[in-house]
Amino acid sequence: MLKPKSSNIPKATRYQNAAIDYYMGLTNSSYLHYGYWEPLPTQGEELTLTRLRVAQESYAAKLLSFIPESIKTVLDVGCGIGGNAAYLCSRGLIVEGLAPDALQQERFIKNTNSQVPFYLTRFEDFHKSYSYDLILFSESSQYIAALDLAQGAARLLDSGGYLLLADMMRFDAEYQEGIFSNCHVASELQAALEQAGFKLIKTEDISTQVAPTIDLCVDNFRTFGLSTVKYIADVVAIALPPLYAIGRWAFKRWLEKPIAEGLAARAIFENHLCYSIQLWQLSKGD
Ligand SMILES: C[S@@+](CC[C@H](N)C(=O)[O-])C[C@H]1O[C@@H](n2cnc3c(N)ncnc32)[C@H](O)[C@@H]1O
Repeated sequence: MLKPKSSNIPKATRYQNAAIDYYMGLTNSSYLHYGYWEPLPTQGEELTLTRLRVAQESYAAKLLSFIPESIKTVLDVGCGIGGNAAYLCSRGLIVEGLAPDALQQERFIKNTNSQVPFYLTRFEDFHKSYSYDLILFSESSQYIAALDLAQGAARLLDSGGYLLLADMMRFDAEYQEGIFSNCHVASELQAALEQAGFKLIKTEDISTQVAPTIDLCVDNFRTFGLSTVKYIADVVAIALPPLYAIGRWAFKRWLEKPIAEGLAARAIFENHLCYSIQLWQLSKGD
């Protein structure tokens, strides 16, 4: 399937996709998730991309620690560019991945040495004649409606099968607009999963261990992103004053608010969201 046209994608998701692209360029890593900072950075310690890559490896290990020993086959939904899939394969699991993005497909194949099947599709459109032992949603649940996720996962699992979900979630249902607003309301996702026959086996809130990545992204955006934009604006103001005037108007009109919101991302996260890893099991039907 081709990459969905941007006009079909909700605005909040498009903001998130832009953030994913930015993140890909920034980290140069095979993971697209926030990572798991353990130990936490000390007060005043510089947050570096090298440290982030270590945190991302720790996050993959953290996911693995949630996977029951009986599991052999995994469907990695929203598999990104293959970091988790490669990690799980190296630990002996048989993995397949899917994502609706051709650019990610290319990188996924490279990062998994063509060893892991990739399906270029949305989860909502994915059908298979066989089932998996576990379905993984690593920071991809927020792109899929709760009912589609719960019912789709139930269809691809046998009774007793597992669903492992790791993502940001809104604990504040009143938070409905802005950069993180496409994340599920935790209670609504829980209701959809229970309705589809899932039972929560294990959960952990890792908000604290994820938050340094938000600080790192904001720091880099402020230091490199905004100072580069300011430099370009200064040069244009000297060389082409009328263009500068238009650019300044457009900046104020469309960019000022999202940028201010991006810079406040840590506070928005702490006030309205949490980051949770949840292992669910489909009822055994006995
Ligand atoms: C933040 S990335 C996470 C990637 C990867 N799981 C990781 O942890 O590094 C979100 C992923 O969800 C995918 N995605 C977005 N909408 C989706 C959908 N409807 N069905 C399946 N995957 C989707 C994106 O293409 C991307 O691969």
